[in-house]
Amino acid sequence: MLSQLVSSFSTAATLFGRLDGKVCLVTGAAMGIGKATADTFHREGATVIYSDILEKPEITEQIEQLNQKRDNSAVFIKMDVTKEDQWKNTMEQIKEKFGKLDVTVNNAGILDMDHVEKETLKGFKRVEAVNIESVFLGCKHSIKLMKEQKKGSIINLSSILGLVGDPGLKKTILF
Ligand SMILES: NC(=O)c1ccc[n+]([C@@H]2O[C@H](COP(=O)([O-])OP(=O)(O)OC[C@H]3O[C@@H](n4cnc5c(N)ncnc54)[C@H](O)[C@@H]3O)[C@@H](O)[C@H]2O)c1
Repeated sequence: MLSQLVSSFSTAATLFGRLDGKVCLVTGAAMGIGKATADTFHREGATVIYSDILEKPEITEQIEQLNQKRDNSAVFIKMDVTKEDQWKNTMEQIKEKFGKLDVTVNNAGILDMDHVEKETLKGFKRVEAVNIESVFLGCKHSIKLMKEQKKGSIINLSSILGLVGDPGLKKTILF
């Protein structure tokens, strides 16, 4: 009984439809929290823009499957969230394809810091650009499009590490 219920959820076009008709952009959606968020939004009926600096074949395949379930309901846009020209381009594509933007999730982030004595200024500035400047750019360019329909939601992800230090933090090279 439970397995039938779970399987009907995974094959259903939507779950409860709490985001029916909404157009949602999720950054850093190729994996982790971003992908889980984008998948959940889609299951809730949203049209989802999966965006990431990484272009993964699995995501391209998944988007094809999502579009088979619901036509024109998912798209991948490659974007480096630290680049303002790429944000502008993403917004232009969203406007052209979907005509509006209801939700932006500024999720992309990196944990790529060494111990303060070893980290370089260049490395520090990259973390700052990906984790902080990108949120500014995401808000700035999303608001412009959201203002056209006089509403919208922006969700910015943060971390406890924005508030407290972690002496055990290790440098992890993601790509
Ligand atoms: N995982 C945790 O325990 C945790 C805890 C607190 C906060 N967070 C925050 O949640 C968010 C997601 O974390 P996660 O653990 O899922 O990360 P993750 O490493 O699994 O995924 C991050 C995604 O962001 C993408 N990305 C990295 N740099 C990018 C760039 N310049 N432009 C576009 N995309 C880029 C990566 O390709 C990846 O797909 C981050 O903002 C992180 O700070 C995570």
